[in-house]
Amino acid sequence: MWFRYGPDQDWVLRGVDLLIPHGTTVGLVGLNGAGKSTIVKLLCRFYDPERGAVLWDGVDLRELSLAGLRERVGVLFQDYMSYELTAAENIGLGDVAALTDDARIHAAARRAGIDPVLRELPAGYRTMLSKLFAPGDDDSAGVLLSGGQWQRLALARTYLRDRRDLLILDEPSSGLDAEAEHAVHRGLRAHREGATSLLVSHRLGALRDADTIVVLAGGRVTERGTHADLVAADGEYARLFRLQAAGYRPPEEVPA
Ligand SMILES: Nc1ncnc2c1ncn2[C@@H]1O[C@H](COP(=O)(O)OP(=O)(O)O)[C@@H](O)[C@H]1O
Ligand SMILES: [Mg+2]
Repeated sequence: MWFRYGPDQDWVLRGVDLLIPHGTTVGLVGLNGAGKSTIVKLLCRFYDPERGAVLWDGVDLRELSLAGLRERVGVLFQDYMSYELTAAENIGLGDVAALTDDARIHAAARRAGIDPVLRELPAGYRTMLSKLFAPGDDDSAGVLLSGGQWQRLALARTYLRDRRDLLILDEPSSGLDAEAEHAVHRGLRAHREGATSLLVSHRLGALRDADTIVVLAGGRVTERGTHADLVAADGEYARLFRLQAAGYRPPEEVPA
């Protein structure tokens, strides 16, 4: 695929060739600005590639109905939405059929690690996550979550859609540290055995359990393999992994 955001703009993707095999987890990594989120948007057909195509089971996305495509995908965008609604509604919007299904909403929240926080809110899951639309003047009626808490809530909203054919998480925990992000991905993998997922991160270590890791740089796929393959290949992935790992490992473990 070749893609740019406008005819007068630079190419973001310059011949990306990427396969997401059914039933596997693919980790897409690359530095900020590499084009990872752009690929996610092309997979959801917010844009079409200028050259090349996105094929799903061999069918060009342009030949599928948009509603049908979106029905088959569960996605957490990097710039996810925060709604001025209750906590339960913020999660339930992931699947409107589950908007009032408390059991499913709570299960999704538990998986995303936000259930204890929501339980402790003044009205629990019924708490309005806004000061604007909270009923009454009582300050405790509406609550504002932190950025990291919103991120987990958005993750729970996506988990509500985890029975879809393809799950995409674009930097689901960039507000957390690298190890917490790895834990999110590991937990996801345990639940997603046999399912198809695309996990995106600018942190190379976060996706080390993925079946395949794909490195995006310069608008192309530059490396592909398991974490062990890529570390052994000692290329750019290995170099950046060591560099980023140095940021969160105890100093005595960091190679000189
Ligand atoms: N809506 C947009 N319009 C124009 N340029 C964009 C838009 N979104 C992203 N870009 C540019 O495309 C490049 C890739 O961005 P992005 O896909 O978000 O990278 P990543 O997710 O890997 O950090 C960047 O140079 C970014 O500035
Ligand atoms: Mg991005």
